[in-house]
Amino acid sequence: MLLAVVAILVFPRTEALRNFYTAAVFEHARFGTENDTARLIVDTNLGFYKKATEIAKSKGADVIVFPEYGIFSPGDRPQLKNYLEMIPDPRKVRANPCEEHEAYSQRPILQTLSCLARNNSMFIVANTGDIQNCEGDPDCPSDGVFHFNTNVVFDREGALLVRYHKEHLFYEFGMDLAREQQNTTFVTDFGTFATYICFDIDFERMSQVARWPAVDGVMFSTMWVEQPPQMKSIQVWESWALGNNATLLASNIQLPGANALGSGIFHGQKGALAYSFDPDGISKLVVARVPKSTFHWVSPNASITAITENRTWDWEDDGKDVPLECSTKLLNESTDIYKDYRCIEENVTKYTFKELEGSSGHVEACNNGLCCSLDYFTGGLNDRFFLGVFSGIYHHFRRYSWCEEDCILARCEALGNASCATFPMMSQTVFKYVHLRANFTSEMAYTTVLENGMRLVPVSEFAINHDLLGKSVRFENEAGRKLITVGIKGRCYDRDPPYHR
Ligand SMILES: *[C@@H]1O[C@H](CO)[C@@H](O)[C@H](O)[C@H]1NC(C)=O
Ligand SMILES: *[C@@H]1O[C@H](CO)[C@@H](O)[C@H](O)[C@H]1NC(C)=O
Ligand SMILES: *[C@@H]1O[C@H](CO)[C@@H](O)[C@H](O)[C@H]1NC(C)=O
Ligand SMILES: *[C@@H]1O[C@H](CO)[C@@H](O)[C@H](O)[C@H]1NC(C)=O
Ligand SMILES: *[C@@H]1O[C@H](CO)[C@@H](O)[C@H](O)[C@H]1NC(C)=O
Ligand SMILES: *[C@@H]1O[C@H](CO)[C@@H](O)[C@H](O)[C@H]1NC(C)=O
Ligand SMILES: *[C@@H]1O[C@H](CO)[C@@H](O)[C@H](O)[C@H]1NC(C)=O
Ligand SMILES: *[C@@H]1O[C@H](CO)[C@@H](O)[C@H](O)[C@H]1NC(C)=O
Ligand SMILES: *[C@@H]1O[C@H](CO)[C@@H](O)[C@H](O)[C@H]1NC(C)=O
Ligand SMILES: *[C@@H]1O[C@H](CO)[C@@H](O)[C@H](O)[C@H]1NC(C)=O
Repeated sequence: MLLAVVAILVFPRTEALRNFYTAAVFEHARFGTENDTARLIVDTNLGFYKKATEIAKSKGADVIVFPEYGIFSPGDRPQLKNYLEMIPDPRKVRANPCEEHEAYSQRPILQTLSCLARNNSMFIVANTGDIQNCEGDPDCPSDGVFHFNTNVVFDREGALLVRYHKEHLFYEFGMDLAREQQNTTFVTDFGTFATYICFDIDFERMSQVARWPAVDGVMFSTMWVEQPPQMKSIQVWESWALGNNATLLASNIQLPGANALGSGIFHGQKGALAYSFDPDGISKLVVARVPKSTFHWVSPNASITAITENRTWDWEDDGKDVPLECSTKLLNESTDIYKDYRCIEENVTKYTFKELEGSSGHVEACNNGLCCSLDYFTGGLNDRFFLGVFSGIYHHFRRYSWCEEDCILARCEALGNASCATFPMMSQTVFKYVHLRANFTSEMAYTTVLENGMRLVPVSEFAINHDLLGKSVRFENEAGRKLITVGIKGRCYDRDPPYHR
């Protein structure tokens, strides 16, 4: 008894003494159509943010991350002007919009986010838009202002810590590109983090920064385009965390008809601590405990809470609404942005594919000097599976290009004269063993193992190996799993052509 009292006196509930922190990411089903006023759209979405923050706080969260374009939708220049707010540079001036009530009274987004942080004594990471006068600057657009897709980070007092302008815009012609490369790292009472936005994850900088020795992880806001077979949201988040040995807190938007869903909390060695992937138009808060960098393990005590206008409830059976198909090559255009889940395949036109033939065996294929081999053992092949390999410059949505090396095993179906074109999300084929390896030349590689219904296979069931002969992944499970994709994506960042927006 006495000991307990002493312990309480000597060890107050300071953050510094715990071996974990609690993180929350909010997957928001953004409200608003072209016919709603800007004010209603902002107020309604921030109303959801407030609910989510308060629930996160009740679960002990130290930080909550919100998605890209969670408060207003992407748009053209005139549309965006209804939402953008002038955001000060926190390296130059101290700004606390909640405290400085008068000065920020016309900037409701910044003020609300700052008050959410302050009222709940939490760190807040959110995506919004910055507008800055630029008259006199030779690159200044004709309307005299820059528009920046911006992440802001507030500390527990509501003070602005970081203002980050997105460095890799994805189309987004209503926004301007960041003026320079930024240092987005910031220090909290539970570690040092950086913040990035969506398309940034495809490029070298975010990975480089995550591997700085001081950095524990990245707080990431996104509105991601779902791209099978290897680039669907949760696959990318987990494989990126594992590939960079860094925590990733990934908050995506829930708009399956706009190709976007899938959020979670991913650890650099343990993979997913908690995630949600369910195309149903319902906002969800994902919460988990994350070990601090110097500690090995702590139970995540993960939870998912569904949040709608009038109700909140514990979310069970995540994934129950995942359909067989999402391909825009097979399905009509989505008519309900909250329900009709659509995805757009990676450009696999230059891959070399070989179909698996027996219930077990060995298959090899090469493409541009990259050779990929597969050993597998199934309980009987009940679907069509292919080994795919690619090495070279990858062309993304007819606009962006980079260098990659791919070696995949995937369930896929033919379309037209392409033998492997679409990637269903269900499978009846039980794999007990898969060993995939290739002589990659990329330094960085991202590995994904996905099963029936878009669920991530526990990291304890597969081993990733990098050595002089290349890279490999070995999956083994006595009981077997109905896999849909096993893949390794090498990113030869050093051979990327320069990025142009
Ligand atoms: C917006 O209003 C117009 C005109 O009333 C209507 O045709 C359109 O369907 C509405 N759009 C949405 C998304 O509700
Ligand atoms: C913060 O707390 C104050 C005082 O209780 C309240 O008036 C305000 O609405 C709160 N703001 C947010 C965004 O929660
Ligand atoms: C980035 O910023 C952090 C925090 O301000 C600082 O400690 C670090 O040295 C900076 N890194 C670089 C490469 O500028
Ligand atoms: C991964 O990071 C942890 C610290 O967060 C470090 O202890 C470990 O050695 C790293 N592992 C590798 C393979 O670099
Ligand atoms: C785990 O989370 C649940 C619900 O969020 C909570 O009731 C419980 O106390 C937590 N467990 C621990 C050990 O803190
Ligand atoms: C939520 O409640 C309000 C007021 O009771 C009601 O008008 C609205 O239709 C409800 N929304 C939903 C989605 O049920
Ligand atoms: C999808 O589009 C096709 C061709 O336009 C049409 O025949 C079919 O009825 C549509 N199906 C649905 C479910 O809307
Ligand atoms: C990969 O292996 C194949 C077959 O052994 C070989 O022809 C090719 O040159 C190797 N590629 C690299 C980059 O080492
Ligand atoms: C797919 O890649 C091929 C070959 O590199 C290229 O010609 C084509 O334009 C790309 N398609 C898209 C949609 O980017
Ligand atoms: C596949 O079909 C498309 C048109 O349907 C054609 O342009 C292309 O040349 C064909 N490719 C092959 C390899 O036959």
